[in-house]
Amino acid sequence: MTTKYVLAIDQGTTSSRAIVFTHAGTIHSVGQLEHDQIFPRAGWVEHNPEQIWNNVREAVGLALTRGNLTHEDLAAVGITNQRETAVVWDRTTGKPVYNAIVWQDTRTQKIVDELGGSEGPDKYKATVGLPLATYFSGPKVKWILDNVDGAREAAERGDLLFGNTDTWVLWNMTGGTEGGVHITDVTNASRTMLMNIDSLTWNEDIAKDMGIPMSMLPEIRSSSEVYGHGRKRGMLPDVPIAGILGDQQAATFGQACFEVGTAKNTYGTGNFMLLNTGTEPIASKNGLLTTVCYKIGDAPQVYALEGSIAVTGSLIQWLRDNLGLFEESPDVEYYANKVEDNGGAYFVPAFSGLFAPHWRPDARGALVGLTRYVNKNHIARAALESTAFQTREVLDAMNADSGVDLTELKVDGGMVANELLMQFQADQLGVPVIRPEVAETTALGAAYAAGIAVGFWNGEQDVRDNWAEGKRWTPQADSDERDRQYRLWKKAVTKTFDWVD
Ligand code: G3P
Repeated sequence: MTTKYVLAIDQGTTSSRAIVFTHAGTIHSVGQLEHDQIFPRAGWVEHNPEQIWNNVREAVGLALTRGNLTHEDLAAVGITNQRETAVVWDRTTGKPVYNAIVWQDTRTQKIVDELGGSEGPDKYKATVGLPLATYFSGPKVKWILDNVDGAREAAERGDLLFGNTDTWVLWNMTGGTEGGVHITDVTNASRTMLMNIDSLTWNEDIAKDMGIPMSMLPEIRSSSEVYGHGRKRGMLPDVPIAGILGDQQAATFGQACFEVGTAKNTYGTGNFMLLNTGTEPIASKNGLLTTVCYKIGDAPQVYALEGSIAVTGSLIQWLRDNLGLFEESPDVEYYANKVEDNGGAYFVPAFSGLFAPHWRPDARGALVGLTRYVNKNHIARAALESTAFQTREVLDAMNADSGVDLTELKVDGGMVANELLMQFQADQLGVPVIRPEVAETTALGAAYAAGIAVGFWNGEQDVRDNWAEGKRWTPQADSDERDRQYRLWKKAVTKTFDWVD
């Protein structure tokens, strides 16, 4: 083996990162840049796709420089991304026609209601695995075509392309207007509401219902194969780009959840729990999504049930940025630790409505149980606890759907550094919570998908062999007390409903 490393690009909700991994699955070097969160109106969330692409390039440059590497040291590049965030751009100019509409954005509520009509939110569920919700990309594309001057005509002429940010980054990396490939993988496609969940092909009828010309849609490929190479004049000339996984699926792969019944929970901007359900899609009866987990080359696809929670880490950012409660996000733990409990306060961060397992677009955030006793520290604690309560709701739904109770939960993502949260999480779930040694499992999963495609790693066994337990939190709380808290949380949730006229 001449090349020693694989590069993963993680185009996330708050930042774009480039991480170089060794063959042992350890981190060699990192570059990271945050991008602007644009909030034009209540409920709207946008990103600037050009800023994202510039940041990706800069992050790659940083990772290579810091690691003292050149492109020749790389065997392959994998891409992982915030899913559902929709970019529409002109194939001849390479310019986006509008900002990216982010997965958290709720502007498509009316579109979603109209699409459902008398059949309601489950109209396409059996076909695509998803309920109609503002979360997914398809309705966001429709919004852009309906609202941007000239966009629909341009789309119908075949001039516009759509992609989640994986596709946007890949197209630019492989040449953009000079021959960039227009491709996505099955996991990202499964988040658009436009892909048949069993055949993994675009559904023309749904695209028609949404007024989206088929010419806009990227080609659907597996999660692990060579899609193209870095453009000649770019930073990664001729390096194979060989893996794409939506970020939550990437984390599931990086956590080596390859057996049916294994699950992981990622604590990022939101929280996302995925349970491997094997090679047949399973329909949820308890508010979970059916999604593609991964497809390695020609091997059959593997599915997952997913519990998506819109707001967890972003609540901490909100306390920091909008309320100025502390300077840095990790400080939340310091304040939460100053008090013994939440002082009776419960914080339901329904900022984008509520996702799994409720799917209540009409919900809005609420802080309840307040008395004059409650101070800043209690609010910091209530905010952290809301992450654990929401996760318990999702885990309950997983257990109900699968008929088997999870006996442990693998965790990853930024917030798993928070000891107080992790202990409270184990207490609430009543099962051990386990963090791997390398907690950057999202980027790692994408690196594995790319490295497997080019033979840098041999396959899933290498991923299993590299995975190592870092830390384990075991439940310690009195079960009556934890259930009392959860009951109050459930009551608080009901206070958030019906807030949209
Ligand atoms: O579905 C949205 C998810 O992919 C975003 O993940 O880590 O960027 O919050 P993250």
